[in-house]
Amino acid sequence: MKLWGGRFSKTTSDFVDDFHSSISFDKRMYAQDITGSMAHAKMLCKQGIISKADEQAILTGLEGILSDMQAGKIDFPADSEDIHMLVESILTQRIGEAGKRLHTGRSRNDQVALDVRMYCKDTCDETLSMLRELCELLLELAKKHANDIMPGYTHLQRAQPITLGHHLMAYFEMFRRDMIRVAHAKEAADTCPLGSGALAGTTYPLDREFTAKELGFAHVSMNSLDGVSDRDFLLDYLSAASIGMMHLSRFCEELVLWSSLEFGFLTLDDGFATGSSMMPQKKNPDMAELTRGKTGRVYGDLMGLLTVMKGLPLAYNKDMQEDKEAFFDGRDTWLKCLHVFTQMLATATFRLQNMEKSANDGFANATDCADYLVKKGVPFRDAHAVVGKLVAHCLGESCAIDALSLETLKTFSPAFESDVYEAISLKTCVSARNIIGGPAPEQVLRAIEAGENWLKNF
Ligand code: ARG
Repeated sequence: MKLWGGRFSKTTSDFVDDFHSSISFDKRMYAQDITGSMAHAKMLCKQGIISKADEQAILTGLEGILSDMQAGKIDFPADSEDIHMLVESILTQRIGEAGKRLHTGRSRNDQVALDVRMYCKDTCDETLSMLRELCELLLELAKKHANDIMPGYTHLQRAQPITLGHHLMAYFEMFRRDMIRVAHAKEAADTCPLGSGALAGTTYPLDREFTAKELGFAHVSMNSLDGVSDRDFLLDYLSAASIGMMHLSRFCEELVLWSSLEFGFLTLDDGFATGSSMMPQKKNPDMAELTRGKTGRVYGDLMGLLTVMKGLPLAYNKDMQEDKEAFFDGRDTWLKCLHVFTQMLATATFRLQNMEKSANDGFANATDCADYLVKKGVPFRDAHAVVGKLVAHCLGESCAIDALSLETLKTFSPAFESDVYEAISLKTCVSARNIIGGPAPEQVLRAIEAGENWLKNF
């Protein structure tokens, strides 16, 4: 008979059980479930609701189940309804009567809300440490490449010269913000719902604060209906995951472009690329592409859960069982992508000469050339037109602006003098952008230092 079978005259069919069972995915919360039950049992005893002997039997029984589950000695049979029922029934099989007292003053509704909050907090810690690792790598790479020139783009057209260090620091900023979002999700999860009961609390004199403290929660929930039906923290995590995946995806898009023969900015380590079954020359950036592709899947997890929640009346509804697969999938996908991505980036080789050559060939210094004329007294709009004509001329000649002789330059504007070459060298162009947040090496190093301090204090 089911644990709740008392009022039923008939059992459910196998296909119905299969339909509503959640054991196949909530079994991964067994440690949280058991730890939560231990704290609950301690509190029940402290409050005189169960005896010391029962408490001891329950704690020993639960410890045994926990270590057996950790050792893989316990199956999670498909016909157990969920992890909560499974643990309780194994406990009762093992210790008898006392096991049946564990669920006093508790419902699976506050129990599952607790488990998933605990799981979410652990997930946030794991995510934060992976994001930290990626941020540290970016700081290290940015420092190394603070002087290495590359073209900066708008519309994917070469625009102005920057450095690779500056480009990498843009990603550092994104992943740093992801850390803030994950920390927020952790805070949102840090409220203990135990004591909310099924929806309306309980008549037993539970010490909610004791249980919360025992389990390391910062707060207890202040409304029993919300306690069992709040899943905002999962949405916070999934929205952080969606934004985080979007950042990874943009970076991956660049790795795909950069590793093409057309760009030639980067070579991926052979350990992070795959070949073609037909074309012997191919080296494909599959890991970057898959990360880009999996971004859609994480968005799906977020949208799925938002949609599950949007029509639910208070308080618990079985629809909410759908929260876990969305959350677990989003979590697993993000963490896997972060792991692969960080290693892929750490082992990639930047082709610095190609980057610099591309900046040189792409008229990335055209703005600086116009600014040079402005400094010589030409109005900016006229200078813009002069350099536009110059670029058109260079395109015809297939050369860079600074490859033209001073004599030729003077035919476009008499304001050009011999100091133009120094003024529009890529190195000068980059160093001149010496403003907070700009690409001048001095500023990039300053941003790196600020980033290091931020990370240290976070
Ligand atoms: N497996 C359920 C879930 O994940 C546990 C809570 C069940 N509560 C209930 N009243 N049926 O949401």
